[in-house]
Amino acid sequence: MRTIAHISDLHFGRIDPAVVEGLARDLAERPAPSVLVCSGDFTQRAREGQYRDAATFMNRLSTPQLVVPGNHDIPLYNLVRRFLFPLTRYTRHITRDLRPSYQDQELLVVGINTARPFTWHWRGFWKDGKISEEQLLDVELRAANLPRDVFKVVVTHHPFIPPPGERPHGIVHGAARALDEMERSNIDMLLAGHLHMGYSGDVRTHFEAAKRSVLSVQAGTATSTRRRGEPNAYNWITIDGCDDVTIEVRAWDGARFKTSVAKHFARRNGVWDVSSDGARPS
Ligand SMILES: [Fe+2]
Ligand SMILES: [Fe+2]
Repeated sequence: MRTIAHISDLHFGRIDPAVVEGLARDLAERPAPSVLVCSGDFTQRAREGQYRDAATFMNRLSTPQLVVPGNHDIPLYNLVRRFLFPLTRYTRHITRDLRPSYQDQELLVVGINTARPFTWHWRGFWKDGKISEEQLLDVELRAANLPRDVFKVVVTHHPFIPPPGERPHGIVHGAARALDEMERSNIDMLLAGHLHMGYSGDVRTHFEAAKRSVLSVQAGTATSTRRRGEPNAYNWITIDGCDDVTIEVRAWDGARFKTSVAKHFARRNGVWDVSSDGARPS
């Protein structure tokens, strides 16, 4: 059995200090996860002080950690920095590793940087991020030859599927092509953030042609006041063998984080299915 604490979208520079303290407290009170994942947007505007605060906070949390940058971790208004040194502050304060991975006997987690200073798309400037061919090859190199009983996870900032019932937006550019690669590499689960909404499901709810059933799990914003109708939250993910995953949403209730919803996914005949869904006591 393995556990992942999945936090996202901290947005230092626009945080609620009580929630920041509550998150550190909640994570300290629980058993240390196998790996702590942060799927990007550490800062609000990629400023030096915001990065310092984010790094101080991350240093309080358990290790090992696997982190990727988000679009807010690239400077927006300083065009010289944006285009010439987009992740200099990220690599100085958070991590120098832009191809992070974690591996043990049961679990592989690979991080992909989807944040780009500029991405062109026919619908206009694309803030939603991108996965390159080189990055897909990297995933394949790390994952494809591992045994099937190693549970394989890819972390991006930008999600692969939209929130249920919402029009597609914010989806990572190149997702369909990437899902072909996930099939070749036997990827089991994707973790992301960006939309500040917590939701999960099979990628095939959005990409019907995808050959492999892959579980796509998004975390809400853990500590930011930029919420989209949901409380601050993070995911506590338990992986039991290769075919059972439980996602507990730990949500802020005004005083502390507690489990608001728990979803249990079981994989049968290669297809992820929600086998139970509902609120659980914390
Ligand atoms: Fe964000
Ligand atoms: Fe974002």
